[in-house]
Amino acid sequence: MAHRWKNTLTDRDVTDEAGWLNRRQIIAGAGAGIGLAGLGQPTWAATLEPNDWEDITSYNNYYEFGTGKDDPARHAHMLTTQPWSVQIDGLVDRPGAYDFEDIMARMTVEERIYRFRCVEAWAMVVPWNGFELADLLEMAGVRPAARYISFETVLRPDEMPGTRYPALDWPYVEGLRMDEAMHPLTIMATGIYGRDIPNQNGAPLRLVVPWKYGFKSIKSVVRITATDTQPPTSWNKANAREYGFYSNVNPEVDHPRWSQASERVIGSGLFARRQDTLMFNGYIDDVAPLYAGMDLTKFF
Ligand code: MTE
Repeated sequence: MAHRWKNTLTDRDVTDEAGWLNRRQIIAGAGAGIGLAGLGQPTWAATLEPNDWEDITSYNNYYEFGTGKDDPARHAHMLTTQPWSVQIDGLVDRPGAYDFEDIMARMTVEERIYRFRCVEAWAMVVPWNGFELADLLEMAGVRPAARYISFETVLRPDEMPGTRYPALDWPYVEGLRMDEAMHPLTIMATGIYGRDIPNQNGAPLRLVVPWKYGFKSIKSVVRITATDTQPPTSWNKANAREYGFYSNVNPEVDHPRWSQASERVIGSGLFARRQDTLMFNGYIDDVAPLYAGMDLTKFF
């Protein structure tokens, strides 16, 4: 498949893998006001006890496994990710169940390096492996009448203990406008730091939309639907005042309960450089045209 996106970030921009892995300690430490790494070197890897993979990917949001930050790491191993198929339906010429391995065989999975942010307002650069969502939609023959794409996470109460409680309205759903979905920065990620995505981060494939807040990045996707109406999204359903459909990173539009004007940079030491949040997470040249003429305080 043709790739339309040109990477401008380099390896030097990428958050050190140990930093990514250790974000739980970083954030916990920062919250408690403990200074660790300080100035540049040594890295966290040197200043923190090394952790095994189980332990270090233990600060996640994946409510199907529980609402605690360490619940996903404790429970996500229960999720069976093989075999996996994605139902692609709605306004497409070739609807059906697409086997994950078949999708992978047809896609060029390359390394994309994105700045990545989550709702807790920290910033980092993570190298995702994946393919453009546009390529998958073209494979299914998305029709011109489609104006939005909706996404759904797998719902398996037997494997996902958090779904036995109504923390959110299950299944987790998300949506993008068609031009957002077709944008070359919008990817389906299948790997991270050159490895398969851990279950708690959304195996075997999850959405990544780098100019939007982290909660738009729906995990463990099993259904993708092309539609002509704006689809519901989980956080908007849960709290429409706080979470809009677009959820673009925007320093000028505060969350009702906190400012989004600055963010802590993971990898800059604990006392840590805060940097001004960049409009569209720094992707302004790439995506601002999508929202030309829109009142982003209204469409947040
Ligand atoms: N996807 C599903 N299915 N369930 C969730 O609870 N949480 C979202 C998003 N995707 C979530 C989800 C939120 S709030 C964030 S911040 C990101 O996943 C976190 O992704 P990470 O754990 O890889 O950092």
